[in-house]
Amino acid sequence: MISIEHVSRRFGDGPDAVVALDDVSIQVARGQIFGVVGQSGAGKSTLLRTVNALERPDSGRVVVDGVEVTALTGQALRTERHRIGMVFQHFNLVGNRTVAQNVELALEATGTAKKDRRPKALEMLDLVGLAHKADDKPAQLSGGQRQRVGIARALASGPDVLLSDEATSALDPETTRQILDLIQRLSRELGLTVLLITHEMDVVKRICDAAALMEDGRVIEQGTLEQLITTPHSRVAAELFPVGEAHGIPGHRIVDVTYAGLSADRPVIAQLSRDFGLDVSILGAALETIGGVQAGRTRLAIPGDETTSRRVIDRLGDHGVTAWEVDPATTGTIATSASASTSASTSTTKAEVPA
Ligand SMILES: Nc1ncnc2c1ncn2[C@@H]1O[C@H](COP(=O)(O)OP(=O)(O)OP(=O)(O)O)[C@@H](O)[C@H]1O
Ligand SMILES: [Mg+2]
Repeated sequence: MISIEHVSRRFGDGPDAVVALDDVSIQVARGQIFGVVGQSGAGKSTLLRTVNALERPDSGRVVVDGVEVTALTGQALRTERHRIGMVFQHFNLVGNRTVAQNVELALEATGTAKKDRRPKALEMLDLVGLAHKADDKPAQLSGGQRQRVGIARALASGPDVLLSDEATSALDPETTRQILDLIQRLSRELGLTVLLITHEMDVVKRICDAAALMEDGRVIEQGTLEQLITTPHSRVAAELFPVGEAHGIPGHRIVDVTYAGLSADRPVIAQLSRDFGLDVSILGAALETIGGVQAGRTRLAIPGDETTSRRVIDRLGDHGVTAWEVDPATTGTIATSASASTSASTSTTKAEVPA
């Protein structure tokens, strides 16, 4: 639905130039909720703005539902923008207009006849559970209610795509959950494709189907959440499952195990102990519901040498469980199970398997 292809964008010239986007490619499937995470200045907002052509890339292109938005100008661009709604961190509502009038403004911009605007605005407000606040001013609303108005306004033109730049960052955790659930429900009910920016992994965990991590204008890793959480190198996964730094134990190898979906229910570790007669210790574990799927990561200490850990990792791989050895010195990854090779694409090289 959204195809961002080799997009680059630089601001300024010479030594002060900032490369905000450096050859970024992202594909978002129809109906998907795709999260972009990354530190401040990583290029997330610039990327989002290229999708509705508020920002023009220096090179590369963006195609939304078969239309190359980066090639559009004038009326054709304005028409295309009606198919792409956007919500903002600070809501951007007009203070001296009522809630309904704020939504009507968006309808006016899309050329809706005057007599149709109010009923349509009320319909949109009903969709976000705010019809009863139609004649209030934004200042009379809570932050969460204001964001609902922002969402109603974004959806007024009947878009296929919703862009969200930190829509929940100004909200408390409970209100954040309500807004995320609303976005997810709307995505499912209206078939909306959502591209959202967030700095909170909880947002990714709660509603995203797929995610990309950006750093210095580049995409460091991307994939579906299931792919990312079973990818040994994934930094997104490491943040989703905080099992901490690895500390070495004399005579032991440290192995991280990840499960997603069905494999979470299988007693693989107990079976491992039986199969190999090993006293496996659990050093840490994190269990999460990610995208509605139970997923977890467990850090094990395996008594023995590299040959032992290799056999354990291979056996786990046979069970469809991704496991890899962690080097406590670097907390890096030094060996992976076979099933890891089918995981998400990362820009780093795959873990090396010792000869
Ligand atoms: N209009 C502009 N003019 C000059 N530099 C810009 C402009 N817009 C963005 N930049 C620079 O491009 C880089 C990426 O900015 P961007 O706003 O996309 O980051 P971000 O990931 O959204 O950050 P944050 O999480 O703080 O919102 C930054 O270094 C920023 O200063
Ligand atoms: Mg930003």
